[in-house]
Amino acid sequence: MIRACIFDLDGVLVDTAKYHYLAWRRLASGLGFDFSEQHNEALKGVSRMTSLDILLDVGGMRERFSQAEKEELAARKNGWYVDYISRMTPDEIVPGVVRFLEDVRRAEIKIALGSASRNAPLILERTGLAHFFDAIVDGGMVSAAKPDPQVFLLGAELTGVEPAACVVFEDAEAGIEAARRAGMRSVGVGTSRTLAQATMIIPGFEGFTVKDLTERLEK
Ligand code: BG6
Ligand code: MG
Repeated sequence: MIRACIFDLDGVLVDTAKYHYLAWRRLASGLGFDFSEQHNEALKGVSRMTSLDILLDVGGMRERFSQAEKEELAARKNGWYVDYISRMTPDEIVPGVVRFLEDVRRAEIKIALGSASRNAPLILERTGLAHFFDAIVDGGMVSAAKPDPQVFLLGAELTGVEPAACVVFEDAEAGIEAARRAGMRSVGVGTSRTLAQATMIIPGFEGFTVKDLTERLEK
């Protein structure tokens, strides 16, 4: 029985990776090194400060900055990122997502957000998705990042659904592992081989229904 669907945001409901990339690349460029799209792959699903450490490693300069300086660099990147996402529109919702969320609602299944991003509320507001959610858990509400299960366990608690009746939708390996540690089933969204640990995998939401979900999970 599925009683709640918990969605990751970046890379599942909206494609914000391109904006993260533009902002991180600008930061790297200011520090004097290149940051490629391939490097950016390693930041998906990773918290802001850990992303910064990975980026500074690419430039070989992680040790050069104090914690306070790193906070300042992350804040600078976030300022640029917020500029981009402030201009987002509903057109940037991943195809098939709105129809699937409507289907979930019709089936009287709760909907929660479980995102590592502190910017999640702004993105939901800009894209017009906020009204679908019974509970929103963002990066500012948890103390441990995925693969820690905290973000999904809080989502379950806020919707009043036990973990075993929750399904997590994720595009990142750390998120699939967080779902497993939370005692929840998971749907890997995308084609990446890193999703192999998910309970099931879908390429995207187009044509995907709650009936497909329940049939495949309860097989
Ligand atoms: C995750 C993204 O959802 O949120 C990561 O996949 C990002 O790329 C993380 O670093 C934190 O986001 P923010 O918006 O708080 O910097
Ligand atoms: Mg994601």
